[in-house]
Amino acid sequence: MDTKVVKMSEDSIDQSEISQAGEIIRRGGLVAFPTETVYGLGADAMNADAALKVYRAKGRPSDNPLIAHIADLQMLDDLVTDVPKVAETLMSRFWPGPMTLIFHKNEKVPKGTTGGLNTIAVRYPKHKIACALIRAAGVSIAAPSANLSGRPSPTTGQHVIDDLNGRIDMIIDGGMAGMGLESTIIDVTVTPPLILRPGFITYEMVKEVIGQIDIDKVVFEKPKEGLKPRAPGMKYRHYAPNAEYTIYRGQREKVARRICVLAENASACGKKTGIITAQQNLELYENISGEIEVVSLGDLDKPETIASRLFKVLRDFDKKGVEVIYGEAFSEDNVGLAIMNRLTKAAGYNVIDV
Ligand code: TXA
Ligand code: MG
Repeated sequence: MDTKVVKMSEDSIDQSEISQAGEIIRRGGLVAFPTETVYGLGADAMNADAALKVYRAKGRPSDNPLIAHIADLQMLDDLVTDVPKVAETLMSRFWPGPMTLIFHKNEKVPKGTTGGLNTIAVRYPKHKIACALIRAAGVSIAAPSANLSGRPSPTTGQHVIDDLNGRIDMIIDGGMAGMGLESTIIDVTVTPPLILRPGFITYEMVKEVIGQIDIDKVVFEKPKEGLKPRAPGMKYRHYAPNAEYTIYRGQREKVARRICVLAENASACGKKTGIITAQQNLELYENISGEIEVVSLGDLDKPETIASRLFKVLRDFDKKGVEVIYGEAFSEDNVGLAIMNRLTKAAGYNVIDV
């Protein structure tokens, strides 16, 4: 299949290309588009055949439900049976924005979109291109992240091209997705509501608005028998670079010393080696010997810089053929919880205390 790639920015949306993209969605085709979190791979949420195409293009297991994206609150009524009071409070504070809510789905939504579940995930994105596309399509758009299943989520149009060129109808390249981490998912069908996936909208922010909120245990721990995630997608190995990646947690200098020894050994054995650190810690690796890629994710005092580069850095390691990665752990405060959730999964839960 030929994939049409069009470039535009939020400030200069090409309406004629957007209309074409909307038409593709209405006809049951697939369009990748930027959002303020990561790129999404969109299909008509009410069309089970289109959802099937999404699963095929991504190589995604079909029990892993998709998020329906809307561009106004009326679209929500077509998808859900009821909107609990607590959801209304969250919506009025955080929508449009990087928050996905889980509702009971109504009977019009095909189970092909929801991975067989009776609930549906809904998000109202803030990105102008995403909203323009949803309006042009005239239907809510089911969209998982636009990566091949298991790969790091795409934060640039080029990442989508790398993964999905030739597999979908169209890619709208809108440059860098702003935040770089997928939305916070909150299940509002349970009391108190439950965070299923942490994101830019943090536990602290949600707690301040609604008082009571819990976090699904699998956000912190590896899923196992008896500890199944409520978001089916959280059970799969995710975000993974090709390299064997281990995270070291502990006192700053001790961690760096351990990482230096391991990285020098690996490099001496001929393995292409990478290190993940932060700007403030780069100096600790200045004297490392061997051909080692030392990469800073960002500024520890500005965790949003770390979030926005995280998936890109993992993909860049793949492109360079890095075989083994040693990385520092980061703080789990605020948005740090989402950062460490993604890094820990990328490392296959290989976290070592030093
Ligand atoms: O920021 C985002 O949320 C991005 C952009 C494109 O909007 N989308 C995204 O979609 O991250 P995806 O498919 O990569 O992740 C959706 C997650 C999966 O873990 C899935 O299992 C969970 O949401 N999910 C979807 N519907 C659900 C439901 N009804 N109940 C529980 N979890 C659900
Ligand atoms: Mg994903």
